[in-house]
Amino acid sequence: MTAQPAPHRTRRRAIVVPPICLLIASCVTITEPPKSGNVVSPVVAKVKVGTACGTPFRATLDGADVTAQFSPTAPSSAVTQANFPGLASGPHTLTASAEVQHWFLVSYCANASDTTTFNVNGDTPYMAECRTQGVPIPPDWAETGTAWVNQGNLNTAGGGTNLLQGATDAHVWTYTDPHVRGACIALPRGSGAPGSLAGIICQSATTGRACFWDNQLKSDPTHILGWSGKKLVISELVDGTDFAAGGNVGGPCASCHRGDNVFLISPDDPAWAKVLRGPLTGGPSGGQFTTRVDSGRYTPLPVAAGWTNPVTGGANCGAGCHELPPANIRGMRDAINAMTPPNRMPMPPACNSGAGCYGAP
Ligand code: HEC
Repeated sequence: MTAQPAPHRTRRRAIVVPPICLLIASCVTITEPPKSGNVVSPVVAKVKVGTACGTPFRATLDGADVTAQFSPTAPSSAVTQANFPGLASGPHTLTASAEVQHWFLVSYCANASDTTTFNVNGDTPYMAECRTQGVPIPPDWAETGTAWVNQGNLNTAGGGTNLLQGATDAHVWTYTDPHVRGACIALPRGSGAPGSLAGIICQSATTGRACFWDNQLKSDPTHILGWSGKKLVISELVDGTDFAAGGNVGGPCASCHRGDNVFLISPDDPAWAKVLRGPLTGGPSGGQFTTRVDSGRYTPLPVAAGWTNPVTGGANCGAGCHELPPANIRGMRDAINAMTPPNRMPMPPACNSGAGCYGAP
């Protein structure tokens, strides 16, 4: 494959066919490994590069030049890729840069770069089990600098549907794994000060297995970390193995998180509507993000006695998107629905009519 530096373009061609970047940030983009991702070896790196001009593509891994390991080497509006087998466990930093065509009134050549820091083999035994069972493994969570994306606030004062805490902030964050179909959702609640909860759940679309984390350290499980200004390092957090054993402050997740899919979603809430039916903030999910389980019902991991997803009797909405929720969730729904504006969470949801409950976020 020959990848030529971009030929000189006339202005006319640049206007008619603009294969150039409008935003510097989008001109060189590391799409993999995900920012602050927890990845296993061998690590695959992918970089999207705009139309190269001037200084060619260059990549460094932990400061060492790894440009030669990428192919194709001088990409033009393409993806260049490298494999890094045998990286040591722990954090690594990949930086990619190139001079690429930009367009602002006129076309010009300017430097663009992107950096990602990721963690190799950061898997706890639980994360490894979840990964084996097809569950997407999320990157560490933080308000900035990760691949997590904020989809909106459930605070009922803003017209949202915070079942658990009403007029309190609860921010819906999603993570889309580039390869694994399913969904990761984090819900940092309250102000974010110590004591504010932030649960994280990931579910596989194909196997229906779901994995749970909460913002307490395994080393200090009774202290709720909060989340504002913090990095929640997945491998350090209490997880399903702790919850299945009954040892956590947030309550047994699966006693409320029941149903065909693990997520408790008010389908007509603006933030949740994006999560169910799209479009997600943060761009198209490439078909990888879905809260739907392909067939059957979700199973909480680890498989353990007393940590199950029992069927709750009662009607469901026909299309299988929500069954009658457990009594405690029904109580929360009824309390929210009694507030103004009323009936903000119709359940069974409108999912059985029209376009249905799930879409293609
Ligand atoms: C008392 C019931 C209850 C328990 C126990 C519970 N949750 Fe939730 N959770 C909810 C409700 C209700 C929602 C929906 C958001 C809202 O309106 O409050 C929710 C939402 C979430 C979300 C956002 C995605 C979703 O499903 O809507 C995450 C992530 C989450 N919880 C994690 C956890 C984790 C982890 C645990 C266990 C450590 C847990 N929860 C225990 C009731 C509960």
